Amino acid sequence: MQSTDWIPETHYREAAASVRARLSLQPTVGLVLGSGLGPLVEEIQDAVSIPFQEIPHWPTATVQGHAGQLVAGTLEGQPVLVMQGRIHFYEGYSMAQVTLPVRVMRLLGIDTLVLTNAAGGLNRSFRAGDLMVIEDHIFLAGMAGYNPLRGPNQGTFGPRFSIHTHTYSPQLRTLARRVADELGITLHEGVYVSLTGPSFETPAEVRMLRALGGDAVGMSTAAEAIVAYHAGMRVLGISSITNLAIDDTAAREEVSHEEVLRAGRQIVPRLAALLRGILRQLPPFDPEEIENRPEHG
Ligand code: HPA
Repeated sequence: MQSTDWIPETHYREAAASVRARLSLQPTVGLVLGSGLGPLVEEIQDAVSIPFQEIPHWPTATVQGHAGQLVAGTLEGQPVLVMQGRIHFYEGYSMAQVTLPVRVMRLLGIDTLVLTNAAGGLNRSFRAGDLMVIEDHIFLAGMAGYNPLRGPNQGTFGPRFSIHTHTYSPQLRTLARRVADELGITLHEGVYVSLTGPSFETPAEVRMLRALGGDAVGMSTAAEAIVAYHAGMRVLGISSITNLAIDDTAAREEVSHEEVLRAGRQIVPRLAALLRGILRQLPPFDPEEIENRPEHG
């Protein structure tokens, strides 16, 4: 195993200690912002920014559209820690590195993680600009062996065999749907297919993923959701459907990273309203929810 496939607990702890030393509030909600969604941090009050480069062991983001900093502060009265720009497997990082921020957030006392992403729509009823709450995922790289929990289990975070029937909190999904209803925002619910990228899917792959039951496809989120759930966090996932995945080689249109960023920016006000509504009504975290999980029984 490459050394970056498994990160010693001291590294997570050193990263957490360095972040903690710069925080004035104890964050309880973590928020990961996907492509083009970075402007959401402008809404955070009393913001403290920590560039990724200043945190020991933290992989540093390289992709256009991913600024690469943690921003701590308050949003709708909730103490949040926002990751502006995430780390992707396609940049050359291991799954352990990609998910290091999630474990650091856990060590910082964060119990609720909201993962957002930009995704291509597979479901034929979706339109570019729509939002989807993630009901479940298909993690093809994980199924093929690139599971972030591979290696000796780190019992500080969770059990050896993590059971993933309810990765995405049913409680938070219900809350998201209710808030969307109240705000008059259309919110689909569906299955997110996580690929590693960086190449986009071919039309044949798009047809395959749709046949497998996918509603949206992207290059992130599943590994983070697994590590978060394993560590006993409540997870909510929201996809911005920035484009429709193309399923025909005769199609004239093309998907581009620029289009994804542009559509992401258009979705930001609606996603921001949804996230704020969710934070406003977020029920306190109940540790019993974790203790009642089958693998802890
Ligand atoms: N495919 C993969 N990832 C994406 C897409 C897509 O169509 N759109 C945004 N991220």
